[in-house]
Amino acid sequence: MIIEPKTRGFICLTAHPKGCEQNVMNQINYIKERPVANGPKKVLVIGASTGFGLASRITAAYGSNAATIGAFFEKPPTEGRPASPGWYNSAAFEAQAHKDGLYAKSINGDAFSNQVKAQTIDLIKADLGEIDLLVYSLASPVRTHPDTGQRFKSVLKPIGSTFTNNTVDFHTGEVKNISIAPGSDQDIKNTVAVMGGEDWQMWVNQLKAAGVLSNDFKTVAYSYIGPSLTEAVYRKGTIGRAKDHLEATAFNIADALKDINGQAYVSVNKALVTQASSAIPVIPLYISLLYKVMKEKGIHEGCIEQIERLFNARLYAENLELDEAGRIRIDDWEMRHDVQAKVLELWNNVTTDTLPKLGDLKGYETDFYNLFGFKVDGVDYKKDVNEMVEIPGLQ
Ligand code: NAD
Ligand code: NA
Repeated sequence: MIIEPKTRGFICLTAHPKGCEQNVMNQINYIKERPVANGPKKVLVIGASTGFGLASRITAAYGSNAATIGAFFEKPPTEGRPASPGWYNSAAFEAQAHKDGLYAKSINGDAFSNQVKAQTIDLIKADLGEIDLLVYSLASPVRTHPDTGQRFKSVLKPIGSTFTNNTVDFHTGEVKNISIAPGSDQDIKNTVAVMGGEDWQMWVNQLKAAGVLSNDFKTVAYSYIGPSLTEAVYRKGTIGRAKDHLEATAFNIADALKDINGQAYVSVNKALVTQASSAIPVIPLYISLLYKVMKEKGIHEGCIEQIERLFNARLYAENLELDEAGRIRIDDWEMRHDVQAKVLELWNNVTTDTLPKLGDLKGYETDFYNLFGFKVDGVDYKKDVNEMVEIPGLQ
């Protein structure tokens, strides 16, 4: 079929298998030139199909020849209806990995559930024996608690008072004011239940109890901080409470891993266009100004550049360069003083009329379409494609 983008607000309902494949190949090629010395060998990635998790899987596999198991929650294709992009990404990754003689298998299901955890542990026991790295890169708006069956919904709201600021509709380029009413205590609890550290801890506990963690095992989860501009809706909002919880969980996990000399870290990553971040108000406008500034300074990175730097310059390097709160910082270039000062200056002058000049709305839009395999260089979108693509290592 011919597949075209069908957008509804900040989501796209279709995805292009060839575009997704090209994105994956570009990431593989980037990593092939940047091997990771003393990198991981047997890796489990939770949230492995898109964004930072996919980049982590590719970096482990092509940076240090790691066997990878990916867990994710993606929609398979049906006749005439394309799959979700993470499905096509995983299909492309595993097909190429198998060609290159790399072990790569995956589990598609709810990683919050006990069932997916048990299935993953069985697969590790059967095929790998143990893992030496767990990357936790799950981003979800909902979680069903595995023990109680309770369903939690996360929200993106400020805490305490209404937040009013500029945002952009990146399809039209219209800059307008939005006000977001504060979340309730229940909203905070729900958001922490979904995006906090409880599930990460459960994964590590169950993997450890099953005896499938190697000596010197490492685990890393991803967080975000960002500037004061977005603080009210992000770091000091409901999602920020979840990130506080995730970051605190790293220390609990590290304690639980002492007997196997294990380590647990949170890496604070840069703001990037992903399915998760395009849903957050204010962030798209911030990102389009940030991209402009970072590209001009020659320090712009996407997911693969970020994760390559995480592995090569932090996780598997001599010095993790932890901050005062014990976190890895690969948002260091985003947070640079000169970068933030320039973004703030642009922010104060941005309107619908000035945005095309001041910001990188084009870059934002292209990245958004690229997430779904559209507007990717080198792909012929007029050509018929088979939407019924299989993931070769799917269990
Ligand atoms: P993403 O939306 O690209 O990826 C989310 C992944 O989680 C996908 O693989 C998806 O299939 C998987 N997933 C969702 N629900 C699932 C479930 N129930 N079971 C199994 N898998 C499930 O998101 P991302 O932006 O790469 O985010 C990953 C992490 O990085 C998040 O913790 C996010 O907060 C963090 N982070 C993101 C940014 C950013 O700007 N995008 C910046 C810093 C940190
Ligand atoms: Na290294």
